Amino acid sequence: MKRCKIELILPALAGLTLLAACEQAPETAPASEAASVELPNGLTVKEQIEARQGQLKKMGKAFKTISDQLKADSPDLSQIQTAAAAVPKESATMIDWFPEGTGPESGVETEALPVIWENKADFNLKVTALQDAAALLDSAAQTGDIAAIGAAFKTTGGTCKACHDKYRLDD
Ligand code: HEC
Repeated sequence: MKRCKIELILPALAGLTLLAACEQAPETAPASEAASVELPNGLTVKEQIEARQGQLKKMGKAFKTISDQLKADSPDLSQIQTAAAAVPKESATMIDWFPEGTGPESGVETEALPVIWENKADFNLKVTALQDAAALLDSAAQTGDIAAIGAAFKTTGGTCKACHDKYRLDD
């Protein structure tokens, strides 16, 4: 953003001179610097963003395994059980993955939308909704009841979507 400072200078003899001094006003640290800022947890902003994306990828992969198996003619229960156990595990610390400063303003590539930090309480509720649903999915998977697994999978998927619709870019 360009900020212009208009100064009125009244030199003793020359009458009135109008000076406009424009400068690039950095509202936050430049993107490259913001990425290497160290967070209270010891990670840099870039490391934190990449770590959460890695966790989310694992969750996505586990979720796809369950989805594929549920669509298969004869679902492989052991694959479903392993994947269903992974989701609560991978998402256990999710509430800590989005500290202040890890949005797009950092200059690091991220699909996290700035509205996360304007609605952090609601965002965190969506995290716990996912964790609760994933725990139920895990329990259902251990019973081996495919219909119950299918229902719990749908509920869990709904919690992913509820968050992505509001807080993730382009989903
Ligand atoms: C509370 C909000 C929230 C919930 C719940 C949530 N996500 Fe996400 N997800 C995000 C945000 C925000 C991003 C973008 C993260 C980034 O780019 O920094 C994301 C990104 C992802 C990505 C892309 C990761 C990458 O960078 O390649 C995958 C895959 C994903 N989520 C899967 C899931 C699945 C599967 C679920 C449910 C089991 C889920 N998410 C639940 C908020 C959420």
